[in-house]
Amino acid sequence: MSIQVVATRALLAERLDAVRSSGASVGFVPTMGYLHEGHGSLVDASVACSDLTVVSVFVNPLQFAAGEDLDSYPRDLDADLDLCGSRGASLLFHPGVEEVYPEGPVQPAVPLADVALPLEGERRPGHFAGVAEVVARLLRAVGPCRAFFGQKDFQQLQVVRRMVVDLGLPVDVVGCPTSREHDGLARSSRNAYLTGAERAAAPVLHRALHAAAAAVAVPGWDRAEVEAMMVDMLAGEPAASPEYAVVVDPDTLLPADHPTSGRDLRVLVACRFGRARLIDNLGVVAG
Ligand code: PAF
Repeated sequence: MSIQVVATRALLAERLDAVRSSGASVGFVPTMGYLHEGHGSLVDASVACSDLTVVSVFVNPLQFAAGEDLDSYPRDLDADLDLCGSRGASLLFHPGVEEVYPEGPVQPAVPLADVALPLEGERRPGHFAGVAEVVARLLRAVGPCRAFFGQKDFQQLQVVRRMVVDLGLPVDVVGCPTSREHDGLARSSRNAYLTGAERAAAPVLHRALHAAAAAVAVPGWDRAEVEAMMVDMLAGEPAASPEYAVVVDPDTLLPADHPTSGRDLRVLVACRFGRARLIDNLGVVAG
């Protein structure tokens, strides 16, 4: 079956109501387009357990602060269609801004959990409010059984999980493994901004995360020392300007102080490489 592009919520509902009334399950992959292999793996995960997969492509103005890359965010709808079609998605929902926000410029109204406050929440004020608002609207428009998000945006995944519970939306949120290049760099649409030298330097993110995982596995590890070690590794690359490197509780994203041995923790980093601001993270276990 070839993929269809749908631009309005009314047409989407028409298509999906018929599918749902036949008892078929709907999987959903929300994206901002310029899709890469990481998005492909989300589509694969959805196709594997859904009768029909919807991918949305919508660059959400509400989650960009003034001065961020909303206008220059990379776009390529034809390539997105090819990727989604070749991976077995059935519908590509590509609404305009007025379709998602028919009331005009909006103030995000979706309640935000505390997990949205630290890290990206501090550095990108308003970002998660914009993400939660659009994801809630997209989930209501699509009405999927399951929605698939990459763990690369780990804090976003936790914010969405909490938002879905708080709003009582009947959808399973599935977190999928980060897709990586051969040298460990997490796939991201913003990798397109990297110059050759920056691209060569960027795998330091992955190396720093793995060094932290090894350090945290040793009983008696010290959080401040591990975080300082990661910042030193990142700063050792001339192209890199580290923003944060933290070891946190995965549920609250607050500093993981005195965790018991065997606890699951999360290590997160954010770093600028010229125009590109990249984030990455890894699950680690306390020694
Ligand atoms: O991760 C993204 O691409 C976006 O934040 C999302 C979830 C599609 C909301 O615009």
